[in-house]
Amino acid sequence: MKRKLLFLALFLTAIQPLMADEGMWLPALISQRIADMQAKGFKLSAEDVYSVNQASLKDAVVLFGGGCTGEIVSDEGLLFTNHHCGYSYIQRHSSVEHDYLKDGFWAMNRKEELPNPGLSVSFLERMEDVTGQVLKGYDSSMSEAQRDSVVRANSAVLTRAATAEGKGLRASVEALYYGNQYFLFVFRVYRDVRLVGAPPSSIGKFGGDTDNWMWPRHTGDFSIFRVYADKDNNPADYSEDNVPYRPKKSFKISRAGVKEGDFTFVYGCPGSTKEYAVSEDVRYVSELSDPQKIALRTLRLDNIKKYMDQSQAVRIQYSSKAANVSNAWKKWQGEAKGIDKNKTVAVKRDYERRFAEWAKGTRYEGLVERLNGLFERRHPYYLAYEYYSETARAIELLSFASNIRNTLGNAQAKANAAESFFKDYFRPIDEENFAALMDAFGKNLPEEFQPEYYKTKMAQFGSAEAWASYVFDNTLFIDKDKVLALKESDEGIVLTDPAFEMYNAFYRWYYDDLRPIINELSPEIELAYRDYMQGQMDFEKDKTFYPDANLTLRVAYGHVEGYTPSDGVYYYPVSTLKGIIEKDDPNIFDYDIPQRLRDIYAEGGHEDQPVCFLATNHTSGGNSGSPVINADGNLIGINFDRVWEGTMSDIVFDPEICRNISLDIRYLLFCIEHIGGATYLFDEMEFVD
Ligand code: ARG
Ligand code: GLU
Repeated sequence: MKRKLLFLALFLTAIQPLMADEGMWLPALISQRIADMQAKGFKLSAEDVYSVNQASLKDAVVLFGGGCTGEIVSDEGLLFTNHHCGYSYIQRHSSVEHDYLKDGFWAMNRKEELPNPGLSVSFLERMEDVTGQVLKGYDSSMSEAQRDSVVRANSAVLTRAATAEGKGLRASVEALYYGNQYFLFVFRVYRDVRLVGAPPSSIGKFGGDTDNWMWPRHTGDFSIFRVYADKDNNPADYSEDNVPYRPKKSFKISRAGVKEGDFTFVYGCPGSTKEYAVSEDVRYVSELSDPQKIALRTLRLDNIKKYMDQSQAVRIQYSSKAANVSNAWKKWQGEAKGIDKNKTVAVKRDYERRFAEWAKGTRYEGLVERLNGLFERRHPYYLAYEYYSETARAIELLSFASNIRNTLGNAQAKANAAESFFKDYFRPIDEENFAALMDAFGKNLPEEFQPEYYKTKMAQFGSAEAWASYVFDNTLFIDKDKVLALKESDEGIVLTDPAFEMYNAFYRWYYDDLRPIINELSPEIELAYRDYMQGQMDFEKDKTFYPDANLTLRVAYGHVEGYTPSDGVYYYPVSTLKGIIEKDDPNIFDYDIPQRLRDIYAEGGHEDQPVCFLATNHTSGGNSGSPVINADGNLIGINFDRVWEGTMSDIVFDPEICRNISLDIRYLLFCIEHIGGATYLFDEMEFVD
């Protein structure tokens, strides 16, 4: 028995490197990873993943809007993304008579699809290393500012040339590895994107903020769009004459399902990570920034929740706002905990000691010490800046006062701003937030960093609550009629209004006291990080580095796997409709499913209908809506979240805990059929079983 265990242990260590699925790789360089991908089960070639000469999977992946991913699933431009990515567009089409958020929306033919002004999808045409061209004319004697202008000027030449090549092109040069490398990205941007289908929120957002970032998960987080083009298949503004876009490539859909161990591949646009940060940068996140921001947001969420629970009207007004506040709030909790559990700060310090030792006598000598020192200098100012955004900037009335001041000369814009503000405004929440946030501000931010204005007001009123009452009782911005009556010549009235005055005082504090110091340190930090990145690559010659995420297209591969969130607990990687029925509760908003779903379940035969699954792919915010692909290159799911115990993967990836959460594509098909009754959509999809 002992021998067997020993053997097993040896065997496990031997395959350990195979298990670690960390990394977000550049598609254009995928030939460097393809052997590893194939060893783990992938059956396609590098050219199948990314090619500029022939159609490849990349041609079926898009940046959806400004921060999500989507995938093309038919020859007629049909597109899948997340419900939470389509949310604001679904909302804009919703009214009391047609509440598509609540009831869902299904176009029953092309004519019924709904246009979405402002929404575009970007297809990557190509990406290429342009480091040499971007740095042409730069030499190391130049300052950071001079380097910056060289980079900017050269990039402008490159992007101008690239966009001139065809219709609807957009190009950008993006820095990788802290500016050690530059890549040109050329996209074709389609501007006519129509809503085809969305499930009711009680499916698409099932579990709400309660289940957000959590497993077990049962959210049907999808929405369906269609991309349109002019008759030559080129990008065009919305027009009735436009026709469905004919893609170079679309995903085939696999209904074969997933099981533990299956190869998975996420193709999408992760937004931002910092995997190569120094210890002080990480310590700031886990010990200062995350905990303090969490505490401030808890105050707000408690107030919001209290009033949402009392009134259905307030629930509607604040549900989207609450979701925004709560999304990062919950993520930060997992992140801080994960950094702590992994002892990342200590591990980084140890690494830095070894790096510093190695660096002696090289151009990297003293670098890591200097970089940590720069962060130590920046911390108090950066924290004060974060306090500014999480307190003064979080009081709705203050931002509104500033918006109105900016629209004084434009009656229509002012009326629109007032209309949308008051539609979703509930004074008791904002007033209590004011009191709670200003109270916390004084208690937690060291006195030498507090603005004089704050101290004066607190001395004058004696408490944050009294200060809040004064502002809310005396500001004109609480009164829609008064706001609508404001004229261009009323600037004087605005400037002396207590809400605007407070907005402005805090803004001046940020602008005059904090920003200059932060901005002065930034170029130094950037330069030092660039050197440190190169230094780490020289120090660990055998390690393969992937660039931090920056919303450019990446490949992350892994496999379906559960995890152990805490001692004595194991999470299976697949959830089913049975779990939805177990959670179903008409009295809990987040768990109140459509009657239709209850009825279908009651008919029987759907207990094992798969809903979501876990895998080990390294993803981040922006990967929402990304296609999840199997070993044959076919679509098996749509990525939409991570487990919160693993959200530190933006800083440190723990293969034991970090999991992405995907919608099983078969649940999407189930909803199209049983909830939407829109099975005509199946005709244009290609299935492989
Ligand atoms: N956590 C996911 C993400 O970061 C989903 C967020 C939307 N859902 C929500 N309940 N707030 O985007
Ligand atoms: N929900 C996230 C998004 O909107 C993806 C989840 C993550 O951060 O991994 O992009």
